[in-house]
Amino acid sequence: MADGNTFPAAAPTAENGIVAGGATRSLRHESAAMHVQGSASYIDDLPEPRGTLHLVPGLSARAHARVLSMDLDAVREAEGVVGVYTAADIPGENQISPVGKGDEPLLASDLVSFYGQPLFVVAATTRGAARRAARLARVEYEDLPAILNVAQSREAGSPMVWRPMEMKRGDAVGALEHAPRRLSGRITVGGQEHFYLEGQVAFARPGEEGEVHVISSTQHPTETQHMIAHVLDRPANLVTTEIRRMGGGFGGKETQANTCACLAALVADLTGRPAKMRLDRDDDMTMTGKRHDFVIDYDVGYTDEGRIVAVDMVLAARCGWSADLSGPVIDRALFHADNAYFYPDVRLRSEPLRTNTQSNTAYRGFGGPQGVVAAERVIEEIAFATGLDPLEVRLRNVYGTHDRNVTPYNMVVEDSISAELVPQLARRCDYARRREAARAFNATSPYLRRGIALTPVKFGISFTATHFNQAGALVHVYTDGSVQVNHGGTEMGQGLHTKMVQVAMREFGLGSDQVRITATTTGKVPNTSATAASSGADLNGMAVQDAVRRIKRRLVAFAAAHWNVAEDAVRFLPDGVHLGEKVIPFSHLTRQAYFARVSLSANGFYKTPKISWNGETGQGRPFYYFAYGAACSEVVIDLLTGETKIERVDILHDAGESLNPALDIGQVEGGFVQGAGWLTCEELVWDKAGRLRTHAPSTYKIPACSDRPRIFNVELLQNAPNREQTIFRSKAVGEPPFVHGVSVFMAISDALASLDDYRTCPRLDAPATPEMILRTVARMRHGDVTAA
Ligand code: MTE
Ligand code: MOS
Repeated sequence: MADGNTFPAAAPTAENGIVAGGATRSLRHESAAMHVQGSASYIDDLPEPRGTLHLVPGLSARAHARVLSMDLDAVREAEGVVGVYTAADIPGENQISPVGKGDEPLLASDLVSFYGQPLFVVAATTRGAARRAARLARVEYEDLPAILNVAQSREAGSPMVWRPMEMKRGDAVGALEHAPRRLSGRITVGGQEHFYLEGQVAFARPGEEGEVHVISSTQHPTETQHMIAHVLDRPANLVTTEIRRMGGGFGGKETQANTCACLAALVADLTGRPAKMRLDRDDDMTMTGKRHDFVIDYDVGYTDEGRIVAVDMVLAARCGWSADLSGPVIDRALFHADNAYFYPDVRLRSEPLRTNTQSNTAYRGFGGPQGVVAAERVIEEIAFATGLDPLEVRLRNVYGTHDRNVTPYNMVVEDSISAELVPQLARRCDYARRREAARAFNATSPYLRRGIALTPVKFGISFTATHFNQAGALVHVYTDGSVQVNHGGTEMGQGLHTKMVQVAMREFGLGSDQVRITATTTGKVPNTSATAASSGADLNGMAVQDAVRRIKRRLVAFAAAHWNVAEDAVRFLPDGVHLGEKVIPFSHLTRQAYFARVSLSANGFYKTPKISWNGETGQGRPFYYFAYGAACSEVVIDLLTGETKIERVDILHDAGESLNPALDIGQVEGGFVQGAGWLTCEELVWDKAGRLRTHAPSTYKIPACSDRPRIFNVELLQNAPNREQTIFRSKAVGEPPFVHGVSVFMAISDALASLDDYRTCPRLDAPATPEMILRTVARMRHGDVTAA
C-alpha cells in the first residue's frame, strides 16, 4: 500500500465530472494515528465540567412482574447521591419506542417486562457512589408468568411485537406435494451480543431556556434528538445531539443509545448540571437488546439433480419485550432466506414473538444473516440427500443459472454475479482438491476431522423503509482554501468519515490535509437517517458530492468571468485549479471568490432512486442493488473436546469500484470474524428466571486473536463497478461480509458429516460451540438424525 496520505494525481474523465482516480485509493482512516496513540476522544474521555453528575440505573430483578412498591429512601440518603429519578419525574411522555408502537417506557413503573429493565436512575457525584447507592433500592414485586423463548411463546399462543409477514410467489404447498423429492427440518440460530468496545454512553449539558446538548454514542443522532425532545416535552429545536465517533456500534446503537441519552438529558434538565451516563459492561449486556435468535422450520421440494423446486419456511424470532426494530429485522431475515438462490415456488412466513427478555435490535446484517443460515442449511440438506457436493448444489441453484431471476418478494435480480464469482473463488482457493484431501484425512483420523465449505452471499442494499433512503451534507470552504465536511452519517470505526473526506478531496482536487471532517450533529445536518443498512457511504457520499458540486458550480462561474476563460476550462485537479493553460492554487481561487462575494458554503441532499416497497402487499423493489461475495472456510474439529480451529479462509468480495480498498478489506475481515464468532463461540444463556447469565466477557466469549484463521486471504473483486449510479460506482460494504462467517458453520457441519460417511446432514444448530459439537457427535454416533 502506498503512503496513505498522498493522493495519486488523476486524469479527468466524464464519470465524475471533474476528477477521477484509479481504484486504489487506500487513504488511511482519518483517526488511525489517534486510535493507536489513544488520543482519539470517546465520550468518556471528554473533560468533565465542574459539577458533572454520574448516572447509574436501577434494574428490575424480575422478568415479568407487577411492581407493588419501590422504596428508594436508602438510595437517596446514600453518600454522594444528588438525586434519584423515576418515571414520575419525566416531564414529557415516558416512551421511547423508535417505531411509534408505544410499548417501550424509558423507565418502568407499575410493570417490569424483563430482567434488567431500568426502574430508576441515580445521580451522584461519582460513578462509584451512584453504583453503590443503586443497590440499596427495595422493590417488591408480584410475579407474572414470563415468556422467555420461542417455545414458551408458542405455548402461550405466540404473542407478537409486529405483524407477521408472508412472502409468497407461486404455489409452494402444491409444488411441494408434487416435487420429486422432499425433506423438512428445523434449525435453531442463536443471538449475539454487540460487544462494542465503547459501551453505551451519553453526556448531557443543560443550556438556556430549555436547551439541552447531548453527546451520545448513537448511530442515529436524529432519532436520539427526537426521543429526548419527546421525553422532555419540548420541540426538537431545543435539543442538539452530537457524536464525533463511536467505539463500535454494529447496530447496537441504532436505537439502544436512546436510553442513556434520554436519562442523561432528563437529569441535566432537572438539575441544571452536566450529567453523564456510561453503563457498566454488565449493566449494558443485561439491559440492551441483541441479535435476534431464530427457530426456523423448512420444508423443501427438489429434484434428483439437486435443483430446488419449492420452499416453505417459517422463521420465528425471539424479539424481546418491545417492538424496537424487530419488525424490519425479521422482514429482512425473510428477504435473505433465499440467500443467492432461486426458489421457483416459495412461501416464507415470519413470527416476530414477544418475550420477557431484552428487546432485540439491529445487529450487522439486520436479520439477513439468520435468513442466509436457513438457506444454506437447505442446500446442505439437499446435498447430503442426493450425495452431491454442496458446492455443486449451490451452483445449480444460484440466480443467473435459471431463465427466471426473481426473488420471493418479486424483485428481479438484474445484477447477479454469483454464477461467475463462486466458481472463480473455488478455482482460486483450490476447493475441489482440498475437499478431497479433507475426506482422505478424515478416513484415517480417529479424533480430528476436517471440513470445508464455500458459500455465496447476496445482500440487498437499501433501507426497506423507503423514506430512510435520504441523506444531507454541509460543506464549508474557508477563504484560505481549507474545507470542512459535515454529513448526516456517524463514524463507528467503519471508515465512513474517511470515505466522505475522500469524496470531497476527489471533487475539489485537494489533499487530505486540506479537508477536515467534523462531528456529526443535528445542528448542522437535520432529519437524518440512522447510519445503518450499510448505506452510510452510499447516501452521505452522494450528499457530500452534491454539496461540493454546488460550491464548485459557483466557483466555476466566478473563475470563468474573473479570468476570462470558458467554464469548461476550469478544472479542479490535484496540482491546483486549472484555468485553461493557467494553474492557480485552490486557496487563491477561494480568496478571490470571497472578495467577489461568492458563497463558499452549501448543503447537499440525496435520495436513492428506483426503490419502492410495500410491506403489506409484499411488492416492489426494496433494494437499489445487491452486494455479492463468496467465502471458503476450512476447519478442523476435535471430536474429543469439541473445539474448532479455522485453518484457512478465502474470501472474494464485491465492493463495486471500492471507495477505499484498505478500509473495505478491513470491513470484510472484521465482518467475517464477527460472523464466525456468532456461529461458533458466542452464546447467550438465560436462566429459568429470565436472567441473562452471560453478561460479561468472563462468560460470553467473543473471538480472540488466536481464533482468527491461520491463513486468511481476502480479496476485493476487481473491475466490478456498480451497475447502478452510486457514489463513484462503489458498493456498500459494512454488513454483507458478516455473512461470510456462515462458511465456517457449514465447514464444521461438513467435518461432522464424516462421522457417518457423508450420508446424512448433521443438522448442527448454531452457535457451534464445543458443547454443541460434542452433543451433535453423540447424537450422530447414536444414529439419531433429528435435530439436537
Ligand atoms: N465496522 C466497525 N468498525 N464498527 C461498527 O460498529 N458497524 C457495522 C458496519 N461496520 C460497524 C462496522 C454495521 S451494523 C453497519 S450497518 C455499517 O458498518 C454502518 O456503516 P456504513 O453504512 O458506513 O457501512
Ligand atoms: Mo447496521 S445492523 O444496519 O447498524
